Formats: sequence, structure tokens, C-alpha cells
Amino acid sequence: MTRPLTVTIDLEAILYNYQYAKKLQPTCKAFAVVKSNAYGHGAIEVSRYLDRHFDAFAVAAIEEAMSLRGAGITSPILLLEGVFESEEWALCEKHAFWSTIENNHQLETFKSSNVKIDKVFLKLDTGMHRLGVNKEVAPSFVHALKESEQVGEVVLMTHFSCADDLSDLTTMEQLTYFEQTRQLIGDIGSSVANSAAVMKWAVPEDGWIRPGIMLYGISPFAEVSGRDLGLKPAMTLSTKIFSTRQLKKGDTVGYGLGYVAADDHVLATVAAGYGDGYPRHALNGTPMQIAGKPGLLAGRVSMDMLTVSMEDLSITPEIGQDVVLWGGDVPVEKVASFAGTIGSELVTRMTSRPHYRYISSDNYQ
Ligand SMILES: Cc1ncc(COP(=O)(O)O)c(C=O)c1O
Repeated sequence: MTRPLTVTIDLEAILYNYQYAKKLQPTCKAFAVVKSNAYGHGAIEVSRYLDRHFDAFAVAAIEEAMSLRGAGITSPILLLEGVFESEEWALCEKHAFWSTIENNHQLETFKSSNVKIDKVFLKLDTGMHRLGVNKEVAPSFVHALKESEQVGEVVLMTHFSCADDLSDLTTMEQLTYFEQTRQLIGDIGSSVANSAAVMKWAVPEDGWIRPGIMLYGISPFAEVSGRDLGLKPAMTLSTKIFSTRQLKKGDTVGYGLGYVAADDHVLATVAAGYGDGYPRHALNGTPMQIAGKPGLLAGRVSMDMLTVSMEDLSITPEIGQDVVLWGGDVPVEKVASFAGTIGSELVTRMTSRPHYRYISSDNYQ
């Protein structure tokens, strides 16, 4: 028996979620954001399957883009953070990447590289204060890019800091700043929306949307799950029970004696731990499903194992039974809330240690 921990990725679900994003913003084109190994789902497998369905892909940096091109992806690929080294401009031209430009250093190295690029996304800092130029200098950047004759089209782009909070006025302020800058520049395309904005905010109708987390069926909002929003969760993390023992009331379990049995019951040990990406900070009571019934984390998560009990202590868990750690009826958002984080972090930090299995209705492997 091999270690049973398995990450199952439903590629059809990702396609469904992408098409859902496009339905919500029907006049926009859509990037599929596949940075950080497609949020842990496997950038190459996801992109290969979806290449012919997507308008374009977006990644953080050139090594991610190179790996997709190396895997045969032909759709346009945008570098969301632009280039880190001036030598990368030549690779952008060679592999037909689109790039963000967000500061003067990038602009100058681009001009002196003399390379030609189909689209440059000029990043406007509308309030996130992490990347981008401000309203005062944005028109001169656009002018310089057009004058260089190295760019097919310049698109104005920004990123929201609080779009996941519908009661926060910051998004409206950022949108206003963005539109004011667009008016100063004149005729220019736009790209503003991450998943939260695609789903809930009024964004420019002629632009490029950039959904990331919603593609994987995970909610961008703290209080609702992806399923509640009509998304299809793409990742299931599952394993099996490989050991059990009878605990007596008062027995303690695992590192730091992190669980104390409140009653006599059977404890099960399953193959999954923080060495796989399961969060070490998950609290006792973190939900899961054991042979289709509710189960709970019982004790500290170890590197390769974790210990669990049935929610109903009168049910006896058995060796070989299936355990779903997230996915299906166990929303990853719920697991994340027990670990003090968000679903996006949990899926993205999955390691390559579990067995990865890709499924779809046409049985792509
Ligand atoms: C510039 C940019 N656009 C879009 C996204 C996608 O955001 P989300 O995963 O919230 O949809 C990200 C993700 O961090 C990003 O950095």
C-alpha cells in the first residue's frame, strides 16, 4: 500500500469557474491567474487542459511563464510583476509574453532593450501602495511607451486592496482614481478586477478581468464558501486511516499532549501532515469527513500524520476508511478558518509530496 494522501484536481470545475467569471463580466476578456503553481493546483496540468478555452494566462514572473511555454502553452501570458532583470525583456519578445510595467526602472530598461511586445499593462497605484505609478506620471509613461513604437497596445491596470470587503469604501475610491487617470490619458484599455471584484463590484465593462482564487472554486469573501457563491471547488485533499487505538477518558494525544479525551472513544491516525501542506496551526475540532460522516481533528498536526476522532463518538473509525480533509462537503474555507488563514493560502501551499490526480469528464490525466 502506498501512502494514500491524494490531491484530486477537477479540471472541468476550473473551466466551469472561468466561464462563470466571464458570464458575470460578459463584455470583458479574462486572464486565468495561474501564478504560484496555479494556486497549488498544478500550473502545467491546469494550463495545458485549459489553453484552448482561455483568453490568456497571468503569472507572477518570467520563470513561471517560461515553464508554461516549455509545456506547449500557446495562449498569451502576462507577467503580473513585470521583469526583475533587464535581460528578461529579450525573453519576453522571444516567447511573446505580455508584461506589466510598474516603475521607471522597468520603463527605462524596456526602452533600452529595443524589444517589441504586443501588450504592456501599465500598473497604476490607486491606493494599495505596493506597486505602480501615480496619476501624475501615468500619462507620461503611456506617452513614452507609445513613442517607443515597441508596444502594440498599452493597457492601464490596477489592483484592489479591499475588494473582499463589500462594506469598505476603499474599492470605490480606487475605482474613482483609476477612472480619473484614464480620462487624463484618453483612449486606453483597462484591467482592474480580481475575483472579488469580478463577483461583486461594478468594474469597467471593456477591460481585462483577472480572476485567480475563484477559478479554483474558492470564495474570495471570508463569510461565504465558494459553493455558496455558485463556484465548483476544484481541489479535494483525501487520505485514509492507517491506525486506530482505544482512548480512555483523560488520555492525551500527540505533541504537547494537544488533545485530551473527554470520554472513552476510538482515535484514528491518518496519513497527512504539515509536511504535505496541511496547516500545523489547525485547531482541535477542525472539520473533515471520515467514511462520509463528520470527523474532527484531535491533537496537534505532525509532519506526516494527524489524529482524528468522529464527531459522534459512538461511531468507531476503522483502518482503511476514507478521510476527506477538504473538498466536497468539507469547504476549504472552513478548514482555513480553524487554522487562522484563508482557503487561498491552504491550497497554494500544498507541497508536491501527495499523489496528484487530474480528472475531467473526458478523462484527461
Ligand atoms: C495583480 C493581480 N491580479 C489578480 C490577482 C488574482 O487575485 P484573486 O486570487 O483574488 O482573484 C492577483 C493575485 O494576487 C494579483 O496579484
